[in-house]
Order: sequence, then structure tokens, then C-alpha cells
Amino acid sequence: MHPRTRLRVGVLASGRGSNLQALIDAGQKADFPAEVVLVLSDKKNSYALERASMVGIRSIHLSPKEDDFYRKLGDEIENFETDLICCAGFIRILPPEFVSRFSGRIINIHPSLLPSFPGLHAQKKALDAGVTVTGCTVHFVDEGVDTGPIILQAAVPVLPYDDEETLSERILVYEHRIYPLAVRLIAEGSVHCVDGVVLYSGNVHQGSSGFISPVTE
Ligand code: GRF
Repeated sequence: MHPRTRLRVGVLASGRGSNLQALIDAGQKADFPAEVVLVLSDKKNSYALERASMVGIRSIHLSPKEDDFYRKLGDEIENFETDLICCAGFIRILPPEFVSRFSGRIINIHPSLLPSFPGLHAQKKALDAGVTVTGCTVHFVDEGVDTGPIILQAAVPVLPYDDEETLSERILVYEHRIYPLAVRLIAEGSVHCVDGVVLYSGNVHQGSSGFISPVTE
């Protein structure tokens, strides 16, 4: 695929950027229909910015203390002719004017099976609730906190002696799989969001490879 025919992805990140890395790695494969062209962070020392710089992707820090922070963020995204915005550990709640400016073009990854455990510390909330299955979700961003239409989910077992760290690590492996997959589906035109409903086409179908945890047989 010629690079110019690929979907142009902008990533918003505040932290270590491992999901960003998964998107960068996917984009470096010749047959992947999208590429990260811009990384924006509200944190100057975000490792996500470094990951981008290391591979020659434009990385920009914008201080949230600046006036018109979200307008400037949006302007940078438009300057780079970004088709899709991926939130990857971006710790801010996007305001309604930003969400409507890029309506249907912002997605997020969250470390739980939404609508369970939205917001911060999703893995701890899952442990505290005593669930035996949790997971991760890629969804379109709307004006709520982790409430937008769901694109993809992966189920991950909670094991008996898990703590927040071990569970987070297990979920993260699946985050790194489903985030590039969701971007691929959007880039290929297999996923659309119409009036808040996610529609699938092409090769997308319900798989039969789900699992029940704990295993009893
Ligand atoms: C991930 O668990 C993601 O689901 C959540 O924040 C974390 C970001 O991790 N929204 P990283 O910065 O991508 O490593």
C-alpha cells in the first residue's frame, strides 16, 4: 500500500505510551492501512513523546495551563491532516467542543470490559468487585467518561493472586492487540459509527473463541 493512501493517525498520550508503541509498530508493517503521524501530550516528560521522536514521528507537548489548550490541540491535529485521533493513556476528559469538532473520529482504549469500571483505576475496581473476567475495550469517544460506542473488546481472566500490577500487565497484552486491530478495521472501512451505533461490514463477524473463567473441566 502506498503510504499516502493510509489513514493518518494522531495519538493523544500522557504517560509511558505502550499503546502508542503498539500503533507505531503496526504502522511500520507495509500492509497496515494506517500510520501514526503525530503524537501530542499534555505532559512534557511523557515517554510517549520520546517514543515518537525516536522513530521520526512529530511529537508536540502542549501545556494544559495555556489558554485555549483544546483549540490549539485541535489545530495541531488539523494541521497534520489527521484522519483519526487515538487516545492512548491521555488522562484528560475531552470537552464537548473538542469531541464535536472531531465527531466520530476519536477513539480510546480502556482497561476493562466497559460499561463496567469506567474512569481511573479500572483494574483495581475489577479486583475490588471480585470479578473473574475483565479485559479491555476500544470505543468511540463521546462526551461522557468511557461511555462511547464500543468497537472491540477482549476478555482477560482475573487470577486468584492477582494484584493491580499483575492484572494490568495481563490486560495490557490484549490492549496492544485490539487497539491496532480497531484502527485497522476503521481504516479498511469495516467499522462505522452512525448515530451512536457501531456498524460492522466486510470480514467482521462475531467470533466463537470467547472463554469462561474459571475453567471447570
Ligand atoms: C492503558 O491501560 C490504557 O488502557 C489506559 O491507560 C493506560 C495507558 O498505558 N487508558 P500506556 O501509556 O499506553 O502504556
